[in-house]
Amino acid sequence: MLLFFFLLCLTLSPPLLTQSLNQDGLYLRRVKLGLSDPTDSLASWDDTRVDTPCHWRGVSCDPLTQRVTSVNLSQSQLSGPFPIFFCRLPYLAQLSLYNNYINSSLPLDISTCRNLTDLNLGSNLLVGAIPATLSQLKNLKSLELQENNFTGDIPASFGEFTQLESLSLFNNLLNGTISSSLGNISTLKELRLAYNPFQPGQLPSQLSNLTNLEYLWLSGCNLLGEIPESLTRLTKLKNLDLSFNGLTGSIPSSITEMKSIEQIELFKNSLSGELPVKWVNMTTLLRFDASMNQLTGTIPNELCELQLESLNLYENRLEGTLPESIARSKNLSELKLFNNKLRGGLPSELGKYSPLTTLDLSYNQFSGEIPEGLCEKGSLEDLVLIYNSFSGKIPQSLGKCRSLRRVRLRHNLLSGSVPEMFWGLPHMYLFELADNSFTGKISKSISGANNLSSLLVSRNNFSGSIPDEVGLLSNLVEFSGDGNKFAGQIPGSLAKLSQLGNLDLSENELSGGIPEGIESWKNINELNLANNRLSGEIPSEIGNLPVLNYLDLSGNLFSGKIPLELQNLRLNVLNLSNNRLSGELPPLYAKEMYRGSFLGNPGLCGDLAGLCPKTGRSKNEGSLWIFGLIFLLAGVVFVVGVIWFYVKYRKLKKTKKGMALSKWKSFHKIGFSEFEIADCLKEENLIGSGASGKSQEG
Ligand SMILES: *[C@@H]1O[C@H](CO)[C@@H](O)[C@H](O)[C@H]1NC(C)=O
Ligand SMILES: *[C@@H]1O[C@H](CO)[C@@H](O)[C@H](O)[C@H]1NC(C)=O
Ligand SMILES: *[C@@H]1O[C@H](CO)[C@@H](O)[C@H](O)[C@H]1NC(C)=O
Ligand SMILES: *[C@@H]1O[C@H](CO)[C@@H](O)[C@H](O)[C@H]1NC(C)=O
Ligand SMILES: *[C@@H]1O[C@H](CO)[C@@H](O)[C@H](O)[C@H]1NC(C)=O
Ligand SMILES: *[C@@H]1O[C@H](CO)[C@@H](O)[C@H](O)[C@H]1NC(C)=O
Ligand SMILES: *[C@@H]1O[C@H](CO)[C@@H](O)[C@H](O)[C@H]1NC(C)=O
Ligand SMILES: *[C@@H]1O[C@H](CO)[C@@H](O)[C@H](O)[C@H]1NC(C)=O
Ligand SMILES: *[C@@H]1O[C@H](CO)[C@@H](O)[C@H](O)[C@H]1NC(C)=O
Ligand SMILES: *[C@@H]1O[C@H](CO)[C@@H](O)[C@H](O)[C@H]1NC(C)=O
Ligand SMILES: *[C@@H]1O[C@H](CO)[C@@H](O)[C@H](O)[C@H]1NC(C)=O
Ligand SMILES: *[C@@H]1O[C@H](CO)[C@@H](O)[C@H](O)[C@H]1NC(C)=O
Repeated sequence: MLLFFFLLCLTLSPPLLTQSLNQDGLYLRRVKLGLSDPTDSLASWDDTRVDTPCHWRGVSCDPLTQRVTSVNLSQSQLSGPFPIFFCRLPYLAQLSLYNNYINSSLPLDISTCRNLTDLNLGSNLLVGAIPATLSQLKNLKSLELQENNFTGDIPASFGEFTQLESLSLFNNLLNGTISSSLGNISTLKELRLAYNPFQPGQLPSQLSNLTNLEYLWLSGCNLLGEIPESLTRLTKLKNLDLSFNGLTGSIPSSITEMKSIEQIELFKNSLSGELPVKWVNMTTLLRFDASMNQLTGTIPNELCELQLESLNLYENRLEGTLPESIARSKNLSELKLFNNKLRGGLPSELGKYSPLTTLDLSYNQFSGEIPEGLCEKGSLEDLVLIYNSFSGKIPQSLGKCRSLRRVRLRHNLLSGSVPEMFWGLPHMYLFELADNSFTGKISKSISGANNLSSLLVSRNNFSGSIPDEVGLLSNLVEFSGDGNKFAGQIPGSLAKLSQLGNLDLSENELSGGIPEGIESWKNINELNLANNRLSGEIPSEIGNLPVLNYLDLSGNLFSGKIPLELQNLRLNVLNLSNNRLSGELPPLYAKEMYRGSFLGNPGLCGDLAGLCPKTGRSKNEGSLWIFGLIFLLAGVVFVVGVIWFYVKYRKLKKTKKGMALSKWKSFHKIGFSEFEIADCLKEENLIGSGASGKSQEG
C-alpha cells in the first residue's frame, strides 16, 4: 500500500516541477540520478526544456509516437547499480550499457523490462547470480552478459526463452554446470559460454538439438569426455570452438559432415587417435586447428585439398609427410605443424599458389631443400624451420621477400652462402641461422635491415670480416656469431650499438683490439670474445658498463694490466685466462675463488702463486682506497653476519632446509655482488665456485 502511494507520487509529482518533458523523459532523469557519471556523458539529459528525450545522447524514439525504443550508453564510464527505472519505459526494446562500471547484482525485477529484444550489459562489474527471471522477457532475441563476475548456474529457466537468438555469457565466474535446458532454445544461433569455471563435465548432448546454431564457443569451460557425435548434426554451424578443455577420445569422423562449417577450433584438449580421413565435401571449411592434443597418424590428403586459410596441427604426434596437395591451397596463409614427427621433403610448390604469411614447421624431421616459391605471393612474414634436417642452400628468391619479419633456420643442415639480399630485408627483426654449415660473408647489404634486433649466426662456417654496416643496426640487441671463421678487426662501429645486450663473437679468428667508445654499450649484459686473436689492453671503460654481468675475454692475446675499474662490475662470469696480462690483480679479485678467471697469464703477479700478496704495495697511493674498501667490507660483513645469525636462528626454529637458500638468493638479488657475500656463505655451502655459471636471473 505504502509502495503504491510512493509510486503514485513518483508518477504524479514530476510534471509539477517541469513543464513539458514527457513520461519517458522523466524516467530517464531518474535513471541519471541513480548513476555516477564522472565524465558528464549524460550532460544532454539535463535539457528539460524539450518535450521528449529523443535527442538526448544515446536515446532513440519511435518517430511516430515519440516513445523511447532504444538506449545505447555503451562506453560512457557510468557506474552504480543497474538503473531499474529503464524498465518503466514500456516501449524500450534495445538497451546497451556495454563497457561501463555497472556494479552490484542484477535485480530480479529486470523482468519488468518486458518489451526488451536486445539487452547488452557486457563488460561491467556485475556480480552474483544471473536472474532466473530474465527468461520472462519473452521478446528477448539477444542477451549479452559477458565479461562480468556472475557466479553460480546458468538458470534452468533459460530453456523457456522462445525467441532468443544470441546468448553471450563468456568470461564470467559461472561455476555451476552448463544447463542442459539450453538445448530447448531452438531459436538460438549464437551461444558463447567460453571461459567460465564450470564444474568439470561432459558437453551436454542436448546442445545437439540447437539446429539453428551457427556459432558455438565453449573454450575453457572445463569440458571432459568425448565430443558428442550428435554435435555434428548441427548443419548450420559455421564456427565451432571447443579449445582449452579436457576433451578426450578421437575427433568424430562425422565432423566432416558439417555442411556449413567455416572454422573448427579443437586446440589444447587431450584428443587422441587419428584425424578423420574423408574431408572432400567440406567445401566451406577455412580454418582448422587441432593443435596441442595427442593426435597420431598422418595428415590426411583430403584435409590438405580443402581451400583452407589456416591449418594448425602443432604439438601432436603426427607422422608421415606433408601431402603435396597443400601446395594447391589457394588461400592458405597460416600453416603451423611444429612439434610433431613429420618427415620427408616439403611439397616443392609450397607457397607458389598460396599467400603464406606464417610457416612454422619446427621440431620435426623434415628434410630436403627449402622450396623456391615460399614467398611467391610476397606475403611471408614468419618462416620458422628450426630443428629439422633441411639441406641445400637458401633459395635466392627469399632474398626478394621483403615482407619477412622472422626467419629462424637454426639447427638444420643448410649450407652454401646466404643470398646477398636476404641479409638486408627491411622488416626483419629476428634472423637466426645458427647451427648450420653456411659459408661466405655477412653481406654489407645488412645495412638495409633497419629493424634487426637479433642476428644469430653462431656455429656455421661464415668467414671474412664483420662488415662495418652491422654497426648501423641501431635496434640490434643480440649478435651471436661465435664458432665461425670471422677474421679481421671487430668493426669500430659496433661500439655505437646502444641497445646491444649480448655480443658473442667467441671462437673466431678476430684480431686487433676492443673498439674504442664502448661506453655506449649501456645495455650490454654479456660480452664474449673468447678464443680469438684479439690484442692490446683491456679498455678501462669495460668497468663502466652498467649492466655487464658476463665477461669472457679468455684465449686471446690481451696484454697490459687488468683495469682496476673491473671492480665496479657485478659479474657472474669473469674469464681473462690465457692471455698475456701482467701486473697486479685488482684487490677485489685477489681471492682464491677467482683463480680460475686469470689462469695462463704468466706475467700476472708471479702467475697467481699467492694470488698477489698485498705486501710491498700497502704503502703506495692505493692504500687509502684499500682502507676504505676494507672498512666498507667490514660493514657489509657485519650486516651479513647479523642476517646470517637470524637465518641460523630461523633454521633452528623451523628446520626447513630450503628456506635459508631462498633467503640468500633474494638477498643476492637486492644487489650484493657475489664477492661481498661469498666469504660469509662459504661455510654454509650455499654458493659454489663463485664467479662461474650464468646468472639464474639473467
Ligand atoms: C552503441 O553506440 C556505440 C558507439 O557509442 C556503437 O559503436 C554501437 O554500435 C551502438 N550499439 C548499438 C546496438 O546501436
Ligand atoms: C557501485 O558504484 C557506485 C558509484 O561509483 C559506488 O558508489 C558503489 O560503492 C559501488 N558499489 C559496489 C558494490 O562496488
Ligand atoms: C513493444 O514495442 C513495440 C515497438 O517497438 C510496440 O509495437 C509494442 O506494442 C511494444 N510492446 C509492449 C508490450 O509494450
Ligand atoms: C571479478 O573477479 C576477478 C577475478 O576473480 C576479481 O579480480 C575482480 O576483483 C572481481 N571484480 C568484481 C567487481 O567483483
Ligand atoms: C522448453 O520450451 C518449451 C516452449 O518452447 C517450454 O514450454 C518448456 O518449459 C521448456 N523446457 C525447459 C526444460 O526449459
Ligand atoms: C560458486 O561460487 C560461489 C561464489 O564464489 C560460491 O559461493 C559457491 O559455493 C560456488 N559454487 C560451486 C558449486 O562451487
Ligand atoms: C531433442 O529434441 C527432441 C524433440 O524436440 C526431443 O525429443 C529430444 O529429447 C531432444 N534431445 C535432446 C538430447 O535433448
Ligand atoms: C559428398 O557429397 C556427395 C553429394 O552430396 C555425396 O554423394 C557423397 O557421398 C559425399 N561424400 C562423402 C565422403 O561424404
Ligand atoms: C579465397 O579468399 C578470397 C577472399 O577472401 C575469396 O574470395 C575466395 O573465394 C577464396 N578462394 C577459395 C578457393 O576459397
Ligand atoms: C620492427 O620489429 C618489431 C618487433 O621487434 C615490430 O613490432 C615492428 O613492427 C617492426 N617494424 C617494422 C617497421 O618492421
Ligand atoms: C666448417 O668447415 C670445416 C672444413 O671445411 C668442416 O670440417 C666443418 O665441419 C665445417 N663446420 C660447420 C659447422 O659446417
Ligand atoms: C676460463 O677459460 C679457461 C679456458 O680458456 C678455462 O679453463 C677456465 O676454467 C675458465 N674459467 C672460468 C672461471 O670459467
